[in-house]
Amino acid sequence: LSLQAFHTFSLPSQCSQLCEITDLTQLQLLTFDSPFCILGEGSNTVFLSDYQGTVIKMATTGIAIIERDNDYLLEVAAGENWHQLVAYTLKQGMPGLENLALIPGTVGAAPVQNIGAYGVELAKFIEYVEYFDIATKQLIRLSCQQCEFGYRESIFKHQLKNKAVITCVALALPKLWQPELSYGPLQQLESVTAQTVFEQVIKTRNSKLPDPYILANAGSFFKNPIIENQLLSELLVAHPQLPHYYYDEHHHKVAAGWLIEQAGLKGYRIAGIEVHQQQALVLVNHGGSEGSDLIKMIQHIQQQIWQRYQISLQHEVRLMNNDTECHIGLGEL
Ligand code: EPU
Repeated sequence: LSLQAFHTFSLPSQCSQLCEITDLTQLQLLTFDSPFCILGEGSNTVFLSDYQGTVIKMATTGIAIIERDNDYLLEVAAGENWHQLVAYTLKQGMPGLENLALIPGTVGAAPVQNIGAYGVELAKFIEYVEYFDIATKQLIRLSCQQCEFGYRESIFKHQLKNKAVITCVALALPKLWQPELSYGPLQQLESVTAQTVFEQVIKTRNSKLPDPYILANAGSFFKNPIIENQLLSELLVAHPQLPHYYYDEHHHKVAAGWLIEQAGLKGYRIAGIEVHQQQALVLVNHGGSEGSDLIKMIQHIQQQIWQRYQISLQHEVRLMNNDTECHIGLGEL
């Protein structure tokens, strides 16, 4: 069974079994004894080779809305498409999610990496996340705090990795709408409504980020690195333009796309894999490539960035190899 259509980076790969979940009772029947990989729309997972196990594709649907005094609580099934949910909430007159428009993927995948864009992270709206606990076959609810959200981080990447299948995400959208306009292109809006923010985000994304269904890609390939203030001050001497954002007292986050572009890597190509011309943080796949080409590309970028800036870039996408997730880093060079 080909996985090419099941992950947006679209490298050629096969899997032995694919199980589509449209009803939660199906999860009760799965044995989880062979390797498994849980997938939404596959927009942040790349299969580097054939996958020796079962791919579990979450395809449950349904949105329940509960009106409370100060907000709306939305309980959304994991298989719902994220962008369609954002569009739906705006149409229903429940603003809040507009900065997160056009992020590819499903609702169930969103908490895993705490999706974020244009000054907003998903965690801001999470009331709880419900998951199927593989060991006990129970549904368990975690509060926002228990999810241990951070920048592109959550408990689902750590303690609960391979132990949980997210089934439902509950979002609280306050009735009192507060726009988040700190990001450059949103500051120039003449009239500020949830709809105009939504449209501006879509316009901005479309100008930089390739549509994965037209040109294969997995969004930002690397995380924006969080570096110590000392290293930042040193780097700013040689590179005063380096975009940086406060993270905590001791750290700043720097723009990996800028580092990659300044290293002269925009348009750099290995086989059909290319550093995107409009956004250097995105890798695109023109086809005719294999997992090994992508690994070479990741290592080349990491090596260049390390040599120039002493920063170790971490890939943000989840890489699957044979039957396990793998991490490519400078250590492997
Ligand atoms: N930049 C460059 N050259 C580039 C790319 C970026 O100079 O090729 C500079 C930009 O000019 C800007 C800064 O770097 O000053 C940041 O760039 P941008 O606003 O495009 O955002 P990003 O930091 O590259 C992050 C998220 C995106 C999200 C945008 C907007 C990560 C890993 N990526 O990208 O999320 O849409 O901010 O908020 O945090 C994703 O995760 O897949 C994703 C697309």
